[in-house]
Order: sequence, then C-alpha cells, then structure tokens
Amino acid sequence: MLKCRPGIMELAPYVPGKSQVPGNFSPIKLSANESALGPSEKAIEAFYKCSNLLHLYPDGNSIDLRASLGEINGLNPENIVCGAGSDELLYNLARGYAGPGDEVLISDHAFNVYPIVAYCVGAKPVKVPEKNLTFDVEATIESVSDKTKIVFIANPNNPTGSYITSDELRRLRSGLREDILLVIDCAYAEFVTNKDYNVGYDLVDGAENTVVTRTFSKIYALAALRIGWCYAPLPIVDVLNRLRGPFNLSTPAQSAGKAAVEDISHMLEAKEHNAVWLPWLRDALTEYGLKVYPSVANFLLVQFGDNESNNALEAMKFFANKGILPRETSGYGLPNCLRVTVGKQKELEKFVGVVKEFLTK
Ligand SMILES: Cc1ncc(COP(=O)(O)O)c(C=O)c1O
Repeated sequence: MLKCRPGIMELAPYVPGKSQVPGNFSPIKLSANESALGPSEKAIEAFYKCSNLLHLYPDGNSIDLRASLGEINGLNPENIVCGAGSDELLYNLARGYAGPGDEVLISDHAFNVYPIVAYCVGAKPVKVPEKNLTFDVEATIESVSDKTKIVFIANPNNPTGSYITSDELRRLRSGLREDILLVIDCAYAEFVTNKDYNVGYDLVDGAENTVVTRTFSKIYALAALRIGWCYAPLPIVDVLNRLRGPFNLSTPAQSAGKAAVEDISHMLEAKEHNAVWLPWLRDALTEYGLKVYPSVANFLLVQFGDNESNNALEAMKFFANKGILPRETSGYGLPNCLRVTVGKQKELEKFVGVVKEFLTK
C-alpha cells in the first residue's frame, strides 16, 4: 500500500481566514489582514499590461522586481530572493536547513505556517512559552538543544500583534549558536511606527545565518498574486535558488509587484490609514469592556467572555450572520479570542456596531 512519509498525517492543514458567510452576499472580510485600501492603481495597471505576455515563461530570476526592491530598500539585489508568497520562502528555508530528527523553535502563538513547514521536512516544531503573548528571547535561547536548526520569529507576530525591539532581536541572534538559522518574518513590518523596531537587515549583513522575509500580501494588498521576498546572505541565497521552482513568480506578479513597491505614496497612505484606525478600533472595543491586546500591525487580537452566550465562538457566529468575518484563533491556542483586521472606515464602524449588538443582546 502506498504510504506518505511518517509525520505528514499528524500535520494539521493550514486553515485560512473565512471568506464566505451564510446567504449569497459578499461579506466584510476582516480575517486575513489584507490592506484596507487595496492595491496601488499603478500595480493594477501593470498587471493588465501583462495580458499580451501570457504565452511566455516569466523571468525566472525576477530581475526587475529584485532591482526595484534593492533600490527602494537600500539593499543589494544579489542578496534578494523572490518567492511565490513568503510562504514559499519559509518552506524552502526549512527544506534547506532542517530535516528528520531536527528541532525548529517557534513561540507559543506563532504564525501557524511554521509548525507546518517543520513537519513537512520531518523536523519537530518545539513551542517556547511567551511573556504576555510576546516572543520571549531568553526563554527561546534557553530552549535551544543540540538538535535545534532553525528559530522562526514573526516580528510583529500574527495573531498576537506583539513585537520585540531591535535590541531584543540583536540579543536573540547573539544568544543562538552560529549554526542555527534565524528567520525573521516581517510580513507586517510596514505598519509598525514604533521607533525601537527594526526589521533586522543589519543582522543579515553581519552574519551568514540570518534571513529577513517580507511580503506583498499585506500592506501592498497583492495577496492573490503570491509575492514574497527575502534578504539573505549569499550562501543562503544560493540554497534558496536551488530549491525554488525555476519560474516561481508569474509575469503579472513580477510586474505588479514592481509597480507596487515603487508607488511609495500609496504604501504610506495605507500605513497612515492603519495609524488612525488601529487605535480607533482598539479604543472602541475597549470601551465595550473587551480585552484588546496591544498590536503594532494591521489587526487586533480581541478577547471575548467565557460563558455560553458571550464567548468567541458565539461572537464569530453572530458576526458571520451579520455578514462580518473576523478570524477565529482557536487553531492558534487562543480559543477565547478573535483576530480582527483593520479594514475600511465604514467596515470598522459597522463591525463596532455589531459588536455592541452582540454584547447587549
Ligand atoms: C506572519 C506571517 N508571515 C507570512 C505570511 C504569509 O504571507 P504570504 O502571503 O507572503 O505567503 C503571513 C500571512 O498571513 C503572516 O501572517
């Protein structure tokens, strides 16, 4: 009988945020942290312009996109690898640097793709307790064993919205053995306004064992096109280029991505929207007596009650029936919470109204 590799059937498949509600109308989707403002017009235009190129293979090295990313971020394009979403890069980093019997350290409520990529390569994800739902640097360093090969950190973290400072990030790197790969996943970096935050390119420059991953799925609102990229030392670039698909980014993805990253003013508008509406949403929900965890990203983790009528599951059902979809977080070990994306003003006003209805029903 044909059998898949041991460990794969223990793997819980990734569950994406919901996008459908009962009935036949389009919901207000606050479940996947896509930017409220949608993509840059210039990116959409670039996407359409590719329609006469669909019979040709794309550029397998994403040269133009990497050149723009390099220029805008002040980085050498030789140190950049593009992926079909940052997910592809996370999978390939695991394939390149961990295997059966190895351990991969992740924090207790880390992004759910990390345990999946660990299991996929036969490695064991080891969960490290957090402090106040925040990555704990010292606990992570203490959890390192002889088998540890990779440490994943999402900074800011999804679904908690918490972050660690650039000093803490530096302390993390210096506390890990040199043969441990540190993957700093900065999917939400553009939204952060705190001065003590830094994505960590300096750590990549200073060593051969650190990678920073980024995505176009969040602030650039191009999730459907699947575009991610990473900044890595040349030996890691070499490994990723051997493992990835030869044409991993489609031509429309490369063109729209390039236009999006060059449209800095649109990105800043999305950042400004978040800077206004994240605290607005936090304050409105706090006023209703809900516990809202501090977040520097474009979503909030909100805690509901623990009785039959006011718990997160009941809230989720109530909101879905009203056509609004936040994200359930029970799969993240946070069954009392829901994660809510900072959507458009009207969406958030409607959501807050529906929360009030739920709490006073
Ligand atoms: C922390 C984090 N990293 C990576 C990703 C994946 O992004 P992409 O769409 O680039 O694969 C997500 C998406 O939700 C995320 O929250």
